[in-house]
Formats: sequence, C-alpha cells, structure tokens
Amino acid sequence: MDNRPIGVFDSGVGGLTVARELMHVLPNEELVYFGDTARVPYGSKSRETVTRFSLQDVRFLLSKKVKAVVVACNTASANSLSAMQQAFSLPIFGVVEPGAAAGARATKNGRIGVIATSSTIASGAYQQAILKKNRGFAVLAKACPLFVPLAEEGWTEEEITFLTAQKYLTELKAQQVDTLVMGCTHYPLLRRCIQEVMGDDVTLIDPARETSLLVKEALEEKQLLRQAETPPSHRFYVSDQTAMFESICRRALGEVHEAEKIEIESY
Ligand code: DGL
Repeated sequence: MDNRPIGVFDSGVGGLTVARELMHVLPNEELVYFGDTARVPYGSKSRETVTRFSLQDVRFLLSKKVKAVVVACNTASANSLSAMQQAFSLPIFGVVEPGAAAGARATKNGRIGVIATSSTIASGAYQQAILKKNRGFAVLAKACPLFVPLAEEGWTEEEITFLTAQKYLTELKAQQVDTLVMGCTHYPLLRRCIQEVMGDDVTLIDPARETSLLVKEALEEKQLLRQAETPPSHRFYVSDQTAMFESICRRALGEVHEAEKIEIESY
C-alpha cells in the first residue's frame, strides 16, 4: 500500500483527458496535475527543449511527493520518456506505447492514421511502435499543430475547429484508414469535430484509457495502490494562470477545480 498521489503532467489542458481516465480506472487514487500553461505548446519545440521542460515537470511533481508519474503528453512521451526514466527512480509511464497498442488492436484493414504534434510525428515514435506490432501495417501520420491552441482556447466544437479538422484530415480519410490514433492529449477535447470529418466508420483511439489500465496493473503489481477510507482529493497546478484552464477542467472532469500557479523555471 502507498497512499502518496500519482503525478500527471502535460503542456496544458490536454493531460486532463488522461486525468479523467485515471480517475475512472483508479477511483481511489489521488492525483497531482501539472499543466505547463506558460510554455505550451511543446509540440513545436526541439527534443532538447521538450526534455528540459519534462525533467523540470517531473522534479516539480516529486516536490509534491508523488509515487509515480504519468506523462500525459505525447510530445514529452515521444521525445523524452527514456531521459525521464533514466533521471528518476520512480515509475514513469508514457502514452505512446499504449496508444500504439490500442491502435494496432483496433484496426481491421491494417491502415492506421496517427495525428499528433509536429514534434511527435517527427520523432517517429508512433510509427515505430505501431510497426513493431505488425510490419505489414500501413501507418499514415499527420501533424495537426493548430488543434492545440483551439483546445487551449476552449473552442472544441466551433465552426473554425471543424474547418481546421477538415483541412488536416481529408487527406487521411482519402487514404482509407479505419483507425485513427489521437496522438496528442489535447485532441480528444476536439473529438466531435474529428469524428465528424473522419466519419463513423473510423475508430478513434484515445491512448488515455489504455495508459490508465497499464498504470493500474503496474501499481497493483508493485503493491503501490492507495488504501484509505477517505475519498481522494486531487490537486491542480499551472505555470501560468489562465481562466481557460479551470473552465476546461470543469468540462473535461465534470467538476470545478482551482489551479494554483507555480514557478516551473525554479525546478
Ligand atoms: N498535449 C500534448 C501532447 O500530447 C502537447 C501539445 C503541445 O503542447 O503542443 O502532445
């Protein structure tokens, strides 16, 4: 038994889609969430910068005495997971491998689309992870950088979001993918527009569920689950105060949570 919280971080609001799944799959666990809202987006930055930010993010979470870290950011998972795992001794989970596994399981025609930030696509992490499951798969990758500011702005179902999705995704749809991995944790917030463009026949994969199941399994195995009578209480931190964070938090989690601002550069 270990009653310490699980740390979760992302560049901004996207990781809330992972926090939501963690709360469903591990309803007794406490979360400490950090959204690096002062430095979002990560997806247009170099691997070096993403790694420096990610190491700071984990150090901040460690200061909150977490027992494990979930990297609720595909960009950080794709570029910096091994650097984090080498630098720290606690269990650190990424979202890319679970997302790739879920995509590989769902496809029927072997044609899998992956949408993510420019940096995640350039890293090749998803393409490699999916092909490792089956060399015969066709992986069609597409960077959709404008989805992140739309999600951070809370424009999840606006016409401009639909038009942006159409511009990015029409090509993928024409390539007859039957499965689309949403390889950025911000994208499930835009799910409705993405599904509308791709059509109901295409299965959308949100790696959050698979990741949460993996975290559960690992914590069970290491006997690190929280066992307390009291309900969990979650804490939220950001590196810049944005009104949007709390409103998206309410929408994503169905609850109001106040976020405290911290100085991430000092970690
Ligand atoms: N939500 C993040 C991801 O999953 C990063 C988005 C960004 O900061 O560019 O990749």
